[in-house]
Amino acid sequence: MQQSFLHVAVIPDGNGRWAAARQRPRTDGHRAGARAVRRTVECAPAHGIGMLTLYAFSSDNWHRPASEVRTLMKEFEQFLRGETARCVAEGVRVRVIGRRDRLAKRLVRAIEATEAATAACDRLRLNLAVDYSSRDAIGRGELLPAVDLLIRTGGEQRLSDFLLWECAYAELYFTDRRWPDFDAPHLARALADYHGRERRFGRVPGATPMNGDGRRRSV
Ligand code: IPE
Ligand code: IPE
Ligand code: MG
Repeated sequence: MQQSFLHVAVIPDGNGRWAAARQRPRTDGHRAGARAVRRTVECAPAHGIGMLTLYAFSSDNWHRPASEVRTLMKEFEQFLRGETARCVAEGVRVRVIGRRDRLAKRLVRAIEATEAATAACDRLRLNLAVDYSSRDAIGRGELLPAVDLLIRTGGEQRLSDFLLWECAYAELYFTDRRWPDFDAPHLARALADYHGRERRFGRVPGATPMNGDGRRRSV
């Protein structure tokens, strides 16, 4: 049986390697990555995804070169300013998770404006994790609903401090495809893979299905 809506989390990794493979600066990879985010958000509702949580910038990403950090922050602000109207039109409620005290004031204002403008939208809940560390979020109590499926592109098989608590029973899907090349068919493949798995939550095979929190589904 399919859940009424899914919480899918994405670690969109591989932007830098995508650019390097094309002899282009890493920043080009981040720009191409932003386009992949738009595509994924567009396709999500058709797959029964009610909540999509994307890792945009980890607290450890501050350790990258200042120029790369600047580009990532600029891309993020442009995404917010450029996509808010479309989010409203498409019923996408945007929420930004993570620390805000280290972000530029104008970026915080853009975040607040997008959150306010999309507050009443209810087709898809889009969480963007910026200056996010799961260990820090657990300490502050900033927790999301349980994740059903976690997708990581770019070939690495680790969580990199993302949604550690929420992924307690998440199905994990890793692909070598680099994030800028991740498109609608790849999302469909990840979802098909997910639906082919049996989530047991510690029970024996074939037992009554559980919801995403591992609680027995009320019929
Ligand atoms: C993910 O791509 C984007 C962010 C971390 C913001 P990377 O920049 O980590 O790309 P790779 O892993 O170096 O290829
Ligand atoms: C995780 O990717 C963070 C984001 C995708 C935003 P990283 O590329 O920073 O993770 P590590 O360093 O490979 O673990
Ligand atoms: Mg990476």
